[in-house]
Amino acid sequence: MQVDLLAGTVYGALVMPRPSPRILVFDSGLGGLTVLAQTIRARPDARIVYAADDAGFPYGRLDQELLVARVLAVMERLIARHHPDLVIIACNTASTLVLPALRARFGMPFIGTVPAIKPAAETTRSGLISVLATPGTVARDYTRGLIATYAGACAVTLVGSTRLAGLAEAVLRGEDADDAAIGEEIAPCFVTAEGRRTDVVTLSCTHYPLLLERMKQLAPWPVSWIDPAPAIARRVAQLLGPDPGSAPSGPPEAVAVFTAGTGLTGPLRIALAGYGLADIAILPMPLEH
Ligand code: DGL
Repeated sequence: MQVDLLAGTVYGALVMPRPSPRILVFDSGLGGLTVLAQTIRARPDARIVYAADDAGFPYGRLDQELLVARVLAVMERLIARHHPDLVIIACNTASTLVLPALRARFGMPFIGTVPAIKPAAETTRSGLISVLATPGTVARDYTRGLIATYAGACAVTLVGSTRLAGLAEAVLRGEDADDAAIGEEIAPCFVTAEGRRTDVVTLSCTHYPLLLERMKQLAPWPVSWIDPAPAIARRVAQLLGPDPGSAPSGPPEAVAVFTAGTGLTGPLRIALAGYGLADIAILPMPLEH
């Protein structure tokens, strides 16, 4: 993962330190939970708002103009209500498009999540890497730019999965996701050429690490899977400063906000509580096409 570099240059080195900073972690759905877990580890004292724009899910299918307008509109409401010190866009599909507009509109720092092309290029030995992402992320100029800048010497396969994010959500809701479906979605990542084969796959949608163990089992051969979450957490510590060690014992203060809330099954509520999100609010914002 490469944490988007603009955050540092636009906003300087550190956010003014203050006790228990409020961090807003945003995704189209449940994928941002993989980033949330690492964020809490970096700053256990933070007050967390986890926001899922489930009324807009999946973002991977939205055209660019609609997605920019949607994220700005949802963020407007969330920021007015929660006043975060820092926002993490825990969504590649949004980050690869909307960050400039968010930074132009709002004053607090934004950390984005973008495909880990640079670490993948540094890790591969075969020179064959695959970017597993949503159809939106693989189509972005931003993603192509990262490849041109960092992976010129590699053969990069872009795989836009239409179903994996939904399958990850289904699993968290307590439903079954069959092996054949997951296997079909990851199969195009595994490429052979002139006796070499893919050895690195970047998980360039935050939903995908939720299925990582299943993907490892279903992979035709072992590869390095790159999960962006630890790099995001390092960026959080850079911007907010390291854990001051002042976190009270017990779970962090955290709330989850959904823009629809229609998928909130019992198993999902239990899973959310496992991430410290027992307090759930609905902020109804139907998606207007
Ligand atoms: N979690 C989002 C990402 O990282 C995408 C899922 C969606 O299509 O909404 O790209």
